[in-house]
Amino acid sequence: MLQVGSRAFDILELLIEAKGKTVTKDEILRRVWPNSVVEENNIHVQLSALRKIFGDDKHAIRTISGRGYRLTVPTEGDEPAALPEAVQGVQAGAARLNALPVCHAPLIGREGAIADITRALSGTPIVTLLGPGGIGKTQLGIAVARSIAAATDMEACFITLAAVENAQGVVSAIAQALGVGRADDEFPRQSLVAAVLGRNLLVVLDNCEHVIESAATVCELLVQASADLRILATSREPLRTRDEKFYRVVPLDTPDTEASPQATLACSSVRMFLAQMRAVNADVETDPGSLEMVATICRRLDGVPLALELAVARAAVFGIRRAVSELDDRFQFLRGGRRTAPPRQQTLEAALDWSYQLLSMTERIVLHRLGIFPARFSLEAACAVAACGRLSPNDVTEAIVGLASKCVVMTTFDSRTKEYFLLETTREYALRKLQQSDEADEVLTRSAAYLARFYEQPCRRGFRAATLGNDLATESVASR
Ligand SMILES: Nc1ncnc2c1ncn2[C@@H]1O[C@H](COP(=O)(O)OP(=O)(O)OP(=O)(O)O)[C@@H](O)[C@H]1O
Ligand SMILES: [Mg+2]
Repeated sequence: MLQVGSRAFDILELLIEAKGKTVTKDEILRRVWPNSVVEENNIHVQLSALRKIFGDDKHAIRTISGRGYRLTVPTEGDEPAALPEAVQGVQAGAARLNALPVCHAPLIGREGAIADITRALSGTPIVTLLGPGGIGKTQLGIAVARSIAAATDMEACFITLAAVENAQGVVSAIAQALGVGRADDEFPRQSLVAAVLGRNLLVVLDNCEHVIESAATVCELLVQASADLRILATSREPLRTRDEKFYRVVPLDTPDTEASPQATLACSSVRMFLAQMRAVNADVETDPGSLEMVATICRRLDGVPLALELAVARAAVFGIRRAVSELDDRFQFLRGGRRTAPPRQQTLEAALDWSYQLLSMTERIVLHRLGIFPARFSLEAACAVAACGRLSPNDVTEAIVGLASKCVVMTTFDSRTKEYFLLETTREYALRKLQQSDEADEVLTRSAAYLARFYEQPCRRGFRAATLGNDLATESVASR
C-alpha cells in the first residue's frame, strides 16, 4: 500500500472529483489550506509528491498553464476515475490530524526566535520551548509549526496536554490528535508508533510540565521509531530526553528607564501593548508622558505577554495612569483574562499558581525566602539567607537547581559567574507567600546579617552591590 501525505491526498481527491475538468490553484488552496495564507509553491511541492507516486503515469496530472491542474484519466458518468495502477493503492497517510489552531493576531517580536527554532528542529528530533507561564511558548510553537508546514512537505499536528492528568491520558490525547483513538480510549503506547511511522510529521506537544515524565517517555519512544518525526514541545520544565534541544523563550524586550520615545516604541513589549490597546479600541497617546507610563507597565510586568494582555484589559477600562498605580497590587487587579483562555491564564495569580503547585515542598520554601532579593543574587547569598530551619545549604542549592529548571528562578547567561534573579511578578508572589508564613522576620534578619558581613569584607566593597540586591532587600519586606 502506498502512502501519501494528507495534503497531497486532498489534492488528488479534488482532481478526481473534477472528473477531468481543470481545478484552479485557488480551489486547491481553499480545500487544502482553508485557514491559512500559503505560498503557491506549496501546491507544487504536493503535486510533485503525487507525480512521483504516479511513476510512469505522471503525465496524467497535467499542468494547465496559468490556471491549474487536470487529471487526464478517463471517467465514466459518476464512476470514479480509473486511476493509474500505481495510484490505486494510495490512501491518505493516516487518519486526519488535529490541525494547528488559527491565530488571527500577529505574533510580535518573535521573528528571530521562529528562525532559530526552525533551524534547531532541522537537526534535532525534539525541541522543547521552555519558559514561565504566559511567556508565549504555545503561540511561538504554533507559529513555528505553521511556518514549517507552509514551506515544506511536512504535516503539522497540534496536541495539548493541558487537561491531561496521567500517563494514560497523555497516550490517549496523542492518539486522539493523530486521529487513531478517542479521548477515553485505553490506547496502548506502542500503537502510537504505527500512527506516526512513514509520516513526515511535526507534532506540537503543548503543556507538558504537569505530566512531564509520561510526555518524555512517549516522545522518546516515537522519535526513536520514526526518523521523519519532529516534536516541538512546550513546557515550563525540560523533558530531559535523549536527542532534545531546549529553547528558552525570553520575555519581549522592554525599554530601559532612560529610553527615548523612539527606542521605547521599538520595543516588542510596547508594540504588543499598543497593538492590543488598539484592538480593543482604546488607543494610547504616544506623547512622552504616556509612553513613559506604557514603558513602566511593560518593564514592571517583565515583558511577559500574558501579564501585558491582562494589563491591557485594565488600562482599556481605567486608563494607563491607573494601570500603572495598580502594579503594586498586581494579583488583585490583573484578573480579567479572556473568557476563553484556560483557567491558568485567567488571572496573573493563576499563572503563578500553576507553576507553584508543581514545586516540591523544599522548592516552595526556598522560593518564599528568595523573594527577599530585589535584584540578582549569587548562590552564596541565596544559601546564606535561605539555609535555615531544617534546610541545609545543600538543600537550598538543590532547590535552586529545581527552581531554575522549572523556569521559576531565572539565571544570567554568563557561564563564568552564574547569578540568579526572580522576575518582578514572581518576586511579588514569593514575598506574599513569605508574609503568609511565620518566617518573614527570620529571613529578613538573616538577609540583614548577610549584608552586614558582606560589607564588612573590604575586598568585596567594590563588588557590584546589585549582585546581592543591596540594602533594598531589607526595604522590600519591611515596606509590606
Ligand atoms: N509575541 C506575542 N505577541 C502577541 N501576543 C502574544 C505573544 N506571545 C504571547 N502572546 C499572547 O499572550 C498570551 C500567553 O501566550 P501563550 O499562551 O503562548 O503562553 P504560554 O507560555 O504558552 O503560557 P502557559 O505556560 O500558561 O501555557 C496569549 O494570549 C497569547 O496570544
Ligand atoms: Mg502554553
